[in-house]
Amino acid sequence: MNIQWYPGHMTKTRRQMAESLKLVDAVCELLDARIPLSSRNPDIDEMFSSKPRMVILNKADQADQNITRRWKEYFKSKGMAVIETDCKTRRGINDFAPALRELLKDQIAKWNEKGQVGRPVRVMIVGIPNVGKSTLINQLAGRKTAKTEDRPGVTRGKQWVKVDEKLELLDTPGILWPKFDDPKVGLRLAFTGAVKDAIMDTETLAFELMKLLATEYPDKVRERYKIEPDPNAEGWEILEAAGRKRGFLISGGEIDLDRMAKVLLDEYRAGKLGRLSLETPEMIGENNE
Ligand code: G4P
Repeated sequence: MNIQWYPGHMTKTRRQMAESLKLVDAVCELLDARIPLSSRNPDIDEMFSSKPRMVILNKADQADQNITRRWKEYFKSKGMAVIETDCKTRRGINDFAPALRELLKDQIAKWNEKGQVGRPVRVMIVGIPNVGKSTLINQLAGRKTAKTEDRPGVTRGKQWVKVDEKLELLDTPGILWPKFDDPKVGLRLAFTGAVKDAIMDTETLAFELMKLLATEYPDKVRERYKIEPDPNAEGWEILEAAGRKRGFLISGGEIDLDRMAKVLLDEYRAGKLGRLSLETPEMIGENNE
C-alpha cells in the first residue's frame, strides 16, 4: 500500500470517518469484484453499522460474471444495496442513483411526509487504496479530473459533488485499510496490483499466482501458455514450463524466470487470461473472516 497504516493512523481515520458519517444518509463501500473479501476493510461492518449501506463491486470487467452474481446475492442477503460497475467504460454507473434511492426509500418517504421534499440524499464512498474510488467519483460527477490523494480518512473542508438534483456525494472518499495481517489477503491484493509496493519479490509472487491459476483455472493456463499444468507441480515449475514455451531463455539454455514472472503478472492484471475471480462467497469463514 502507498499508505503506511499504523495504529495511531487507524484511530485518526476512524475518528474522521465517524465525523463524516454524521453528514451522510448512506455509505457506499467500493470493492474489487475479483477479490471482494481481500479488498474489504475488516472493521467495516462495525464502523458503519448505523447507516444503510451499498456495496459496489467495481472492476467487474475483470471478474467472472457468475461469481460476481453470487457475490451480489450474498451482499443483498445482508440487507445491502449492490451494484456492479466497470468505471473505465461507465458500465453500471447509471445503476448507482436508482439503487441508492431504493435503499433509502423509507427514509425519503419520511422526508416527504415531513415536508422536506427535494432534500438531497447524501452519501460517501469508502474503500481501500486502488479499488477505483477516484475513478468512480469522477464518473458519477461527470468530470475527468483529479485523482484524490492516498491519504487516510477524509480531509477537512468537505465538498459535495452533485450526481443529480437529489443526490450528492462527499467529494473525498474515505480511504480504509485492508486486512493486511493476513498473508493470503496480502497475496491477492498483490496479484491484482492493488498493492504496488512489492510485498515479496516478483518471482515468488508469480509462483504463487501460477499455482493458484493452475489449480482454479487450468483451462485458462492451458489456453494462454500452451502448457499442460500439472496439478501436483510447484508454481515455479509451471512458470518455468510457460517460460520455455515462450522461448524466454538466458545463456546456458536456462529459462528466464524473472521475465516470465513479470509477463504472468502483467497479463493477469491486464485481463489477458480472461475474467478470473480469485474469491467466492463460499470462502467466507474459511480463512478470511
Ligand atoms: P482509488 O481512488 O481507489 O485509489 O483508485 P483509482 O480510482 O485511482 O483507480 C485505481 C486504478 O484502477 C486505476 O488504474 C483505474 O483506472 C483502475 N480502475 C478503476 N475502476 C476500474 C474498473 O472498473 N475496471 C478496471 N479494469 N480498472 C479500473 P491505474 O493503472 O492506476 O491507471 P490507468 O490504468 O487508468 O492509467
